[in-house]
Amino acid sequence: MVKPKRRYVCQACGGVSNRWQGQCPDCSEWNTLSEDAPQTVFSSKHDLSSGGRPILFTPLDAPGELPKRRASGLAEFDRALGGGLVPGSAILLGGDPGIGKSTLLLQAAAHIANSGSTAVYVSGEEAAGQVRLRAERLGLSKSPIQLASATSVRDILTTLGMMDPPSLLVIDSIQTMHSDTIEGAPGTVSQVRGCAFELIRYAKENDVTLILVGHVTKDGSIAGPRVLEHMVDVVMSFEGERSHQYRILRSLKNRFGPVDEIGVFAMEGAGLAEVGNPSMLFLSGREDAMAGSAVFAAMEGTRPVLIEIQALIVRLQSGATPRRAVVGWDSGRMAMLLAVLEARCGLNFSSAEVYLNVAGGYRLADPAADLAVAAALVSALGDRPLPKNAVWFGEVSLAGEIRPVAHSSIRQRESAKLGFGSAFGPVATTKPEKGLDFTGLSMLPNLVDRILTDA
Ligand code: TYD
Ligand code: MG
Repeated sequence: MVKPKRRYVCQACGGVSNRWQGQCPDCSEWNTLSEDAPQTVFSSKHDLSSGGRPILFTPLDAPGELPKRRASGLAEFDRALGGGLVPGSAILLGGDPGIGKSTLLLQAAAHIANSGSTAVYVSGEEAAGQVRLRAERLGLSKSPIQLASATSVRDILTTLGMMDPPSLLVIDSIQTMHSDTIEGAPGTVSQVRGCAFELIRYAKENDVTLILVGHVTKDGSIAGPRVLEHMVDVVMSFEGERSHQYRILRSLKNRFGPVDEIGVFAMEGAGLAEVGNPSMLFLSGREDAMAGSAVFAAMEGTRPVLIEIQALIVRLQSGATPRRAVVGWDSGRMAMLLAVLEARCGLNFSSAEVYLNVAGGYRLADPAADLAVAAALVSALGDRPLPKNAVWFGEVSLAGEIRPVAHSSIRQRESAKLGFGSAFGPVATTKPEKGLDFTGLSMLPNLVDRILTDA
């Protein structure tokens, strides 16, 4: 047998190094590497090609039980999940502190408990009294949720073993859980991984839907090892600006459904309210047409949403480096769009500060946002308002072409329904819809000409 190799695992990101280093080469955090159990390197005589039991192959169309989904009681939550909670599945819910994860899950647990199934809510962050206080605020204190404040996975699983398995088990949060079979403080990679493993195993064996709350680090990823995301069936993130009312529940990975559906909620005085028709949410009060503002006809999964995009351009007098700030969109994508506008349309943003904001604290993921962002930027640069009551959608390529996007007719129909009079989009493949004046654009310079030369 060959000598076991030492390996060092970063407690922040799970990256592996062959030697100890002060800084993790993967995530650049300091003092996070620690030695992991040695991995035995076997020689070729210890091969795995014999001595095992044969496994059974089955055809894909073999009759089997399709998991039957259970409604959470929150239609927007079910929609983001792809149609409800799947028994025996594990869901990881991430999101910034204070965004409303505990509120959402308490509401879902209450609905399930009220409908006659068992819902267990274990909080490792708050005392039971605190959770009760929140339930009172939400008007849910009469709901028969099984509530506990605990952090020991052994205690939790022992208790669950003494009762009938619940329909729903909420663990808030996985970073506070602790297993006495694993060394290290709660929240370290090995603890998070080990606790999640035990809880998921319990959920799978007992057909329980398990929801794990996960903390989010500064850069927005779920704290702890990436392996957590591989271990669960569904990864969801709860997003929004804390200063704004709206919250979006998005699934980033879903073994049982699509990942492009979102749930929309509004955080109100008495908890999260569902927003069934989000079409107009993200338009600010727009009276007069303002330079730098464009309405984007976006799609979120199968639903159209109209979102206002705002751009502000400030010319700098001195030679200072201009700032570029983006809220709600990918800053790399904006840099690309600015470069295309400079290279293909002859515009000059080099001595100007560029600010881009998506109204309502919304985060854009639809690639069709390019054209609306370009329209807002050009309108701000030329200080010319865009046509009133117009919506924009289309993807922009590096060559400056305006490329076709999916669902152009749904985007237009929704815009017409909400009182918009005209739409600008990719010329190719877009069929104009009734009730809307559609203008097809093929190249970015067409857009620039329209905005800057037409009066
Ligand atoms: P919480 O669910 O505790 O967030 P998380 O678990 O993601 O950290 O939500 C906390 C915030 O939500 C808090 O700042 C207050 C606000 N809130 C309301 O506005 N209305 C309510 O009814 C509740 C319960 C919370
Ligand atoms: Mg919480």
